Amino acid sequence: VFHKHPEAHHFSFDGPFGTFDHQQLQRGFQVYQQVCAACHALKHVAFRDLAQLGYNDAEVKAIAAQFQVPKYDAATGEVTTNPGAPTDYFPPVAYAGQGSPPDLSLVVKARHGGAQYVRSLLTGYTDQPAALLKEFPDSKTPDGLYYNPYFANLNLAMPPPLVDDAVTYSDGTPATTAQEATDVAAFLAWAAEPTMDKRKQTGWPILGFLLFATILGYMSYRNIWANKK
Ligand code: HEM
Repeated sequence: VFHKHPEAHHFSFDGPFGTFDHQQLQRGFQVYQQVCAACHALKHVAFRDLAQLGYNDAEVKAIAAQFQVPKYDAATGEVTTNPGAPTDYFPPVAYAGQGSPPDLSLVVKARHGGAQYVRSLLTGYTDQPAALLKEFPDSKTPDGLYYNPYFANLNLAMPPPLVDDAVTYSDGTPATTAQEATDVAAFLAWAAEPTMDKRKQTGWPILGFLLFATILGYMSYRNIWANKK
């Protein structure tokens, strides 16, 4: 195994108390929309879900309308393509290049390392190490592929998608490549599990209840057997 383990990065949503940072998710969505969406779909996410990132109804409607969504009409058998509505899901993407860009809805769950992997992959493009090439001449990156030490096969069909200032963040955050990669990785973590905050918040009262029930059980045990020798 020659590929690198994802670089450690602390995300706001790490750990049992971690929650999504909505400002960051909005920045990550900007990166997805302006860069990744040219090649990658996000089919499990509906535009209305973006309200969770803090967009209001008018903003969600405006975002949806920026995407062209094909619809099959069962009556006529025809497919018509129109600007999206909030209830639509992110549409499929026609991709003409080499390789096939996977749908990104669940990629954070599908890859070991999750958001850290996505972040490392996006920032990790580099020249193929001369030592590697010398030892394994057959590993030379083929034409049309790109060397990336975080990718399991080392050579992948995705050209480096991010550069500094690929987007202009509406919250004024400087858009370095690392910032964009971190934000879009966070956004994709949200896309893969939009209910994560709720799941974590639900766990604590349940643990509290179980502790209470255990103490109550122990006390009634003591009470019931108190007079028995
Ligand atoms: C693969 C993310 C932009 C084309 C991937 C993978 C991820 C990803 C996570 C899967 C890697 C794996 O299998 O482990 C992103 C993100 C982008 C972005 C977050 C925006 C920042 C693009 C763009 C293109 C593209 C703009 C097209 C020009 C591809 C292709 C693959 C791929 C062809 C398949 C690579 C292979 O299996 O060899 N991308 N991508 N991506 N992406 Fe992207």
